Amino acid sequence: MKSPPSLLLLPLLLLAIAANEALGAKIVKYLPGFKGELPFTLETGYVSVEESELFYYFVESEGNPKEDPIMLWYSGGPGCSAFNGLIFENGPLEFNITAYEGGLPSLKYYPYSWTKTTSILFVDAPVGTGFSYSKTQANWYTSDSATAWQTYQFLRNWLIAHPQYLNLQLFVGVDSYSGISGSIVVKHIVDGNEAGVVPRLNLKGYILGCPRIDEGINENSFMIFSHRIGLVSDEIYEAAKESCHGKYYDVTTSESECYKVIEVYDKLIKDINKNDILEPKCTWASPQQGDELNRRALEETSGDFILSPPKIPEFWCHNFNYAMSYWWANDKSVQEALGVRQGTIEDWVRCNKSLQYTMDVSSVLDYHRNLSKLGLQVLVYNGDHDLTIPCTGTQQWIKELNLTIVNDWRQWLVDGQIAGYTIKYSENGYRLTYASIKGAGHSPQEYKRRECYEMFDRFIHYYPL
Ligand SMILES: *[C@@H]1O[C@H](CO)[C@@H](O)[C@H](O)[C@H]1NC(C)=O
Ligand SMILES: *[C@@H]1O[C@H](CO)[C@@H](O)[C@H](O)[C@H]1NC(C)=O
Ligand SMILES: *[C@@H]1O[C@H](CO)[C@@H](O)[C@H](O)[C@H]1NC(C)=O
Ligand SMILES: *[C@@H]1O[C@H](CO)[C@@H](O)[C@H](O)[C@H]1NC(C)=O
Repeated sequence: MKSPPSLLLLPLLLLAIAANEALGAKIVKYLPGFKGELPFTLETGYVSVEESELFYYFVESEGNPKEDPIMLWYSGGPGCSAFNGLIFENGPLEFNITAYEGGLPSLKYYPYSWTKTTSILFVDAPVGTGFSYSKTQANWYTSDSATAWQTYQFLRNWLIAHPQYLNLQLFVGVDSYSGISGSIVVKHIVDGNEAGVVPRLNLKGYILGCPRIDEGINENSFMIFSHRIGLVSDEIYEAAKESCHGKYYDVTTSESECYKVIEVYDKLIKDINKNDILEPKCTWASPQQGDELNRRALEETSGDFILSPPKIPEFWCHNFNYAMSYWWANDKSVQEALGVRQGTIEDWVRCNKSLQYTMDVSSVLDYHRNLSKLGLQVLVYNGDHDLTIPCTGTQQWIKELNLTIVNDWRQWLVDGQIAGYTIKYSENGYRLTYASIKGAGHSPQEYKRRECYEMFDRFIHYYPL
């Protein structure tokens, strides 16, 4: 549904033209490592929010950008760049890892991109993430609530500068740890609209990928999931249940029985790759070890195992792809093509592990209880081999919303194969679809990108999975 353009928007339009210049927005036609012109529209730029300069990659829908929805997307961590979304998860590009022989990694077009029918605004949030930077020392410090506010302001300012997207259906999508701040962004949008803040944002719904939602539920789910998937015996699980009284995290020595069982548990799980329990825990040893960049790339996993360099192309370590991102994004020609401001970022990292960040919100379950009274369209998904945010916890907090099941647990298919399981709830116009992705880790798009594309595409067009 589209409302006719209104004269009231005229001042906004003028504002937009001025604002767009201020953003330093740039249409990127060529990217180093990509052969020829990009077959989609990519805009990059910065939006100022207070003293922060938030960097974004905007990929316009490859379908009908004038009518397709638009989605804000940012990654978790906190501190992981939206580049992860763009290249590894939802976007139309991927690294070409076949026959990689060093040098600038090459990129290729990825056809099953969420941008096929949706415009996506990938933002490096909060400040300190990816190419986003602060102009003042004090402003580097951030938190869950600050991130939510910053990102909401970012979205508003970007849309004001791009008014042609204001009437489109708007979705907010986040991943992993950003489940916390992303839920608050949604609340800010709802509150802003209720308070009559203009322009009104045409929020239709939100998407939570393997999200952090509630400390208690998420932390406890490690034990519950580990038992269910067979990493922990019935006996150990029963002992834990009995001595820990249902709380398996932040256990102190004063709870000696529980502490002992948790110690056993920790030993059993220590060398499991938590992002995907089926994958090896490996650190890629690069052929040019020693320089700073490679050291950083190596720090990607805190794994204790150093494997010998893989014989490309028989490469099998997931984080080889991550190492590529360091070589690519730190290249001068790449930063120039992206319009990154010189001297603002010394060293681009995929995930900023030294982000000065305060976790000031431990649960957003109440936010979802309140949001579930509104007519929103919601997708929550989780890989079923993820021990970073286990699916059992995700299913548990959804249950706590007390929604009515409209389509009970069933399989969903891609190419005639079971891609996962899904359940759909509804309550007074609030519609929530949960989907598991079979065999996928954290974030599931990185493991089952094609299946996740199908899931998203059906969801965004209101088809049942
Ligand atoms: C991927 O890299 C290989 C080896 O460098 C090259 O032969 C091939 O053309 C590249 N593919 C694309 C789509 O760029
Ligand atoms: C990580 O974030 C902090 C601020 O929280 C910043 O000082 C630092 O430069 C960032 N590191 C990188 C590599 O971007
Ligand atoms: C949820 O709604 C109630 C009632 O309006 C309000 O008191 C509470 O603060 C809200 N909680 C959140 C987290 O928004
Ligand atoms: C959830 O629904 C059940 C059954 O209708 C009810 O007994 C329970 O109090 C509800 N819980 C919450 C938190 O609203």
